[in-house]
Amino acid sequence: MAKARQKTEAKASKNKLTEAQIAVHWKEEKYFYPSKKFKAQANLTDPSFVKKFSEKNFPKCFDLYAQLLDWDKSWKKTLDASNPPFWKWFVGGKLNACYNCVDRHLAQHKNKAALIFVPEPEHESAAVITYQELYKRVNETAAMLRDFAGLKTGDRVTIHMPMIPELPITMLACARLGVIHSVVFGGFSGEACGLRAADSGSRVLIYADGYHRNGKWVDHKPSADIAVETARKEGQDIDKVLFWKRYPGHYRSESPMIVNRDFFVEDILKDYRGQTVEPVSQDAEAPLFLMYTSGTTGKPKGCQHRTGGYLAYAAGTSKYYQDIHPEDVYWCMADIGWITGHSYIVYGPLALGATSVLYEGVPQFPDAARPWRIAERLDVNIFHTSPTAIRMLRKAGGDEPKKYNYHFKHMTTVGEPIEPEVWRWYYEVVGKGEAVIVDTWWQTETGGFLCTTKPALDPMKPGSAGPPALGIYPVIWDENGQEVKPGTGKAGNICIRNPWPGIMQTIWGSSERFVNQYYKKYCKNPKSKDWRDWPYYAADGAVLPADGYYRILGRVDDVINVAGHRLGTKEVESACLSVPDIAEAAVVPVVDEIKGRVPEVYISLKPGVSPSKAVKDKVVSTIETIIGKIARPKQIHIVPDMPKTRSGKIMRRVLAAISNHMDTGDITTLANPDIVAQIRELVQGRVTGPLQDGPEDIKLFGEEK
Ligand code: PRX
Repeated sequence: MAKARQKTEAKASKNKLTEAQIAVHWKEEKYFYPSKKFKAQANLTDPSFVKKFSEKNFPKCFDLYAQLLDWDKSWKKTLDASNPPFWKWFVGGKLNACYNCVDRHLAQHKNKAALIFVPEPEHESAAVITYQELYKRVNETAAMLRDFAGLKTGDRVTIHMPMIPELPITMLACARLGVIHSVVFGGFSGEACGLRAADSGSRVLIYADGYHRNGKWVDHKPSADIAVETARKEGQDIDKVLFWKRYPGHYRSESPMIVNRDFFVEDILKDYRGQTVEPVSQDAEAPLFLMYTSGTTGKPKGCQHRTGGYLAYAAGTSKYYQDIHPEDVYWCMADIGWITGHSYIVYGPLALGATSVLYEGVPQFPDAARPWRIAERLDVNIFHTSPTAIRMLRKAGGDEPKKYNYHFKHMTTVGEPIEPEVWRWYYEVVGKGEAVIVDTWWQTETGGFLCTTKPALDPMKPGSAGPPALGIYPVIWDENGQEVKPGTGKAGNICIRNPWPGIMQTIWGSSERFVNQYYKKYCKNPKSKDWRDWPYYAADGAVLPADGYYRILGRVDDVINVAGHRLGTKEVESACLSVPDIAEAAVVPVVDEIKGRVPEVYISLKPGVSPSKAVKDKVVSTIETIIGKIARPKQIHIVPDMPKTRSGKIMRRVLAAISNHMDTGDITTLANPDIVAQIRELVQGRVTGPLQDGPEDIKLFGEEK
């Protein structure tokens, strides 16, 4: 036995050397084509424009994105790559991000809706904020931040707010002053906010008293008290906490205000009515914001994004990939507290002078038809959401879209690989077969899209992000730095060979971590001053068929190594989802003495379907048929719901811990922490033995990076 184990271990460690040689089993999907109607109106229809982004025109090609903005002073050099990997974009250029998103639209569009706010309670009407009103409110807020809060260019401020218009107003006011904002997702805890505030060195916090979420009023004020205390413990004093009220004139929290620390914005703003603040002309390289994201290990890192390059990239990709035109009503259902919301609710669309919809609540409140009612009411024609939301809406109301009279011309999916099964529902039912879909692969670090189809020019392929975005040159390497050639059916680590304007500048306060995490792995020569030697390591597994459509398999730590063969968890999950009874599926690795790791499957069923052995058998046989016996799950657990983050991602880490009799770690940040005990009992029975200290890869499995 011991010998067999040694042999397996030796084999596993040998296989580690060829880690990127992952066997993938995903059948090729047929293409879908954009309609003539869509093409006739699209922003990007000219193949000669695409040619301008060919590698020989790098980096100058990105001037085309920068030219979408108004600059106070033009840049002298597109890219300064003399100190890799600390790139400088649009060197010598000066601009202000707020001016670009607000002021410059006034001449032509001051009465146009910049933001349409849709409250979660359905009886409350949508509120329109025109560019004129946005201009006024942003200026008054900027005056308050400068003169009352004492914030100046280069200071950091932490914003912990829900999806209400005052969030983008505050962000833009910061941008006007050159104050670096760090927005923490509203659903994160006060502690999470406090840690981030401390890391960024913020001495001002901006909050809202509360908000509606999933039919409940969330009292947000107590979170601020915890954040202040947490930051203090970390050595960061918070001088002032400014509170917007969700309902002006009515404080809706039970929690008392702290004298001389807590202030209501509406009281202070009275003193700044009508004031204007000159937008601070910023160096293109001045940081615009920080966005914290979790790492595989250690504390969250503050991705620092620059003003010029980021805004140019957000605007360019919004124009050509989101296909935003002035008359469109664009709705991205993400939260502004994530990078998607920064780039594709606020900065990208507003830089283009578009109308951006802001929805306070969850998609399924009060029922799974809510998004379609909003779309019908506002005549939304561009829709942007995540596979998680799509799966959820499909599960809870698969036929609902048909009942509503809306018409999307364009839809986006982002954030996770989307199962072809789910993609087709999105296309056929949500998009009514009329809308083009872009599956956009990118990351917090990258500022904007890295892979996506060009909506009018490229056919769509379910489950594939598609070709690289304009000016992006990816490559897939194995663990040894050998290129995994297209069409081999092998997967590896996707990297981007060149810098681009949207890439983060560094990790706030930790340049070393920045270099180590993203550039060390495939750096050809650490002394080199040539950008070609410094590819960006995305930590995602990907496979590239002969047609050049990248399919992202997920984080490299989301891959299960079964007897030396690697299986994308998404692949197994996709197989499960092709069983009609299955609503959601999650696959986790379980330690197996012989095979190293084997997959274990968690599924939830569509409404009306009862758990049965027949369903389990069907799942097993489907996995075997679609993928092979190698992926045969050790067990199938039918669960009432999956443990999910507040942003809706399934927490595979928690399931992996349960499957492996390990401690689940901190589950307090889950949207539904109670489900964890239920699942543990279901999987392990009532009599639970002592929890084990499992291997590192399982501990880290599914961890948000
Ligand atoms: O694994 C990839 C996955 O989400 C990760 C980035 O997450 P985050 O920084 O939170 O940004 C999410 C919004 C851009 C990536 O490393 N991911 C993102 N988009 C896709 C995706 N996986 C597959 N397909 C996508 N379209």
